Amino acid sequence: MSAPRGEFSSRFGFLMAASGSAVGLGNIWGFPTNAASNGGAAFLFTYLILAFALAYPALMAELIIGRHAKANAVTALRGLSTSPASRALGTTVGFAGMITVSFILSFYAIVSGWMMAYMLAAGADIVGADAFSSWLQTPGLTRDSLFTVVFMMLTIAVVVAGVKHGIEKWASRLMPSLVVILVALIAYVMTLDGAMDGLRLYLVPDFSRVADTGLLLSAMGQAFFSLSLGVGTMLIYGSYISKRENLPALGGMVTLLDIAIAVTAGLLILPAMMVALNNGIQIYDDQGGLVAGPGLIIAVLPALFEQMGSAGMLVGLAFFVLMTIASLTSSISMLEVPLSYMVETRSVSRRKAGVVLGAGIAVISLIIVFNFNVLFDLVVSLTTEYSQPLLGFFFAIFAGWIWNRNGILAEIKQGCEGAEHGMFWRIWPFYIRFICPLAILAVYVQMLFA
Ligand code: PHE
Repeated sequence: MSAPRGEFSSRFGFLMAASGSAVGLGNIWGFPTNAASNGGAAFLFTYLILAFALAYPALMAELIIGRHAKANAVTALRGLSTSPASRALGTTVGFAGMITVSFILSFYAIVSGWMMAYMLAAGADIVGADAFSSWLQTPGLTRDSLFTVVFMMLTIAVVVAGVKHGIEKWASRLMPSLVVILVALIAYVMTLDGAMDGLRLYLVPDFSRVADTGLLLSAMGQAFFSLSLGVGTMLIYGSYISKRENLPALGGMVTLLDIAIAVTAGLLILPAMMVALNNGIQIYDDQGGLVAGPGLIIAVLPALFEQMGSAGMLVGLAFFVLMTIASLTSSISMLEVPLSYMVETRSVSRRKAGVVLGAGIAVISLIIVFNFNVLFDLVVSLTTEYSQPLLGFFFAIFAGWIWNRNGILAEIKQGCEGAEHGMFWRIWPFYIRFICPLAILAVYVQMLFA
């Protein structure tokens, strides 16, 4: 017998949880650095179009399927199936999503562990514990393993507490704090010399780059990763939305929040990098590109904070608290995917499922930590570049081709009276049938043969 299903208690709670999942490390450094290396506002512009034209319809597919089925991805996709072949496809896609998201969590926990270590280091600086601070900032197997495990334990603790009392409660506390910290940091960085050069790099468009296929591909990949698509995360969060809510509007708000925070993060990261450059810190790598990814967050920015003296300690602390919050609200949404499957189909308690799955994923993380140079980039690329788009393609096939239109419309109409006459219903079915699968396929093919 399975326990009664959890449900978000309010629209606000869902919005915080889903935008918390979407807003993560990907937005705060992926988006800004991608924008800076791909023609500034030209990237922003392309990203906005792709986010609304492709990622939003794909997000809606997951939310609608999830709320209809009120179940985990495997059960949901099997339930929509009309033939043994599509049932087998549903099982495969559901399982592949769970495996993919578990591997995403395994590398995400490592990076999030670094964020926690730097957060503590800033705290240690403030109280003058210099030796501890420098240990925290020195890469090492002990430090990395320890913080990866601590971060996984936090993730497990929140998820095990349940949908309402864990995920919703923490996302509703953490997401508003994230916005406050982000805005306060931007206000501070803007007062420093060099910040305006960063704004220029970010906001002045170089439209000659828009036709660049590299730009298109990275904007699309960024949009899919950023909205947590293809792995069943949004499907399971959709399954916890009440039937009284208007799905197209909720999905639109999540998309807008995700974009708004990514765009706002750019107002922090790019100016901060130019301030660092102004202060003589190296921000370009050997190929002449801007330092991106982990290198940016754990090399460039800490060096900048250090130069700022005592103010820098507080700014550093605020920044790494921000990163830790962004990570945690995403990691809980990842663990929820396999957990909901175990709870619903294997009749285990949330506690047991959370501990067993969390421990299993932590073991994978540790294997990556101990073989970092061989495994880290490989796992990131296999999961986010190959698996996520391919699974996104199959979700679109389920919503566009396998599930019948009447069933979809009936689901949307709950909480959205007269949906059949609205804008959404006029456009979305065509997008999810043709545009989304073809566009995803194009990215995928391009990646395989690039
Ligand atoms: N959207 C998250 C980010 O931007 C990452 C994520 C991917 C979360 C897949 C859940 C599932 O960092």
